[in-house]
Amino acid sequence: MSFRGKDMLVWSINNYLGMANHPEVRKADANAAAEYGLSLPMGARMMSGNTNLHEKLESELSSFVQKEDTILLNYGYQGCMSAIDALVDRNDVVIYDSESHACIVDGVRMHQGKRFVFPHNDIEKLKVQLERATKLVAETNGGIMVVTEGVFGMAGDQGLLKEIAELKKSYEFRLFVDDAHGIGTLGATGAGAGEEQGVQDEIDIYFGTFAKAFASIGGFISGDENVIEFLRYNMRSQIFAKSLPMPIVVGNLKRLELFRNDLGFKERLWTITIALQSGLREKGFNIGVTNSCVTPVFFEGGTFEAANIIVDMRENHDIFCSMVVYPVVPKGVIMLRLIPTAAHTLEDVQYTLDVFDLVKKRLANGEYNKEKIDFSLAAK
Ligand SMILES: Cc1ncc(COP(=O)(O)O)c(C=O)c1O
Repeated sequence: MSFRGKDMLVWSINNYLGMANHPEVRKADANAAAEYGLSLPMGARMMSGNTNLHEKLESELSSFVQKEDTILLNYGYQGCMSAIDALVDRNDVVIYDSESHACIVDGVRMHQGKRFVFPHNDIEKLKVQLERATKLVAETNGGIMVVTEGVFGMAGDQGLLKEIAELKKSYEFRLFVDDAHGIGTLGATGAGAGEEQGVQDEIDIYFGTFAKAFASIGGFISGDENVIEFLRYNMRSQIFAKSLPMPIVVGNLKRLELFRNDLGFKERLWTITIALQSGLREKGFNIGVTNSCVTPVFFEGGTFEAANIIVDMRENHDIFCSMVVYPVVPKGVIMLRLIPTAAHTLEDVQYTLDVFDLVKKRLANGEYNKEKIDFSLAAK
């Protein structure tokens, strides 16, 4: 990435499989833009916005994530939220993980029935909520939907899908999984966290985005044909909005073709991920509980220290990475979140590890402990 005129080594974009700058992807995007422009199709899917290529992408995605059917979404966030809204009514209960992404929380906010939350990945507490919900829906004649994520994008830990799926033996519910960070990165074929944990079949509603491993925009939901058919005619955000432009559809078909037919993309991603995570661990950094590509590095310090670390890394070492501070993490904790990709090299990893060593020393020496962002650090 070029930032203020300087080339940067970036650990801050979700270009997991290196699709963003892949020459074939760039060519497909450009050719589709030349052929169709951004205008087409001009309508919503239900009106005049359906094309063979939209349907082709849906069918390829269904087979990729091992589901019967798929509906495309204009934007992941809006689609995920709207799917939750469409799938449940006032008689139903939604139970969701406390660390769910904002698009889940906003979907749950629109729900007119009861909503119960369980502490992050706490299966015992989820059981308690399932007990409560089961009693409730017996009265309302409704259903229960449990919503969680394949990979939690901040700390990088996977949702306990296997354990949640196991609960289906004792409770009746449907499982909705937001696998934004899992798709393309986890599982033998890249089908995500469900495949990785051997429970892809137990996911009733599978949400994926094109904004990460696909390095594109939009998203999709896959599941049983009758559920997807229901969504086609009930998901307000898609019915009343123009469908995905052709270059996005064609571009996503190309990306899917590339990484489905060549597992080398995922292998390269994991070579970098393993080198980065094991390198950090060996050097004594705390990377928490990640079991995905998302790599958080935890330090102790306040917001200004975090900002000064970022400035130092960016201005003096040409490394661009994102910081996460209170209230996303507790007060006094700094999280630098690194996203490894197939486009990084092992040299990039080594260089970054060396810079992190330096940063750790400067932090311990109090060099970042200023009352404001210290741009003079850039001169050092
Ligand atoms: C877990 C999760 N769900 C949903 C989204 C929203 O997807 P999109 O960027 O396609 O709107 C994101 C962020 O991109 C995400 O991290």
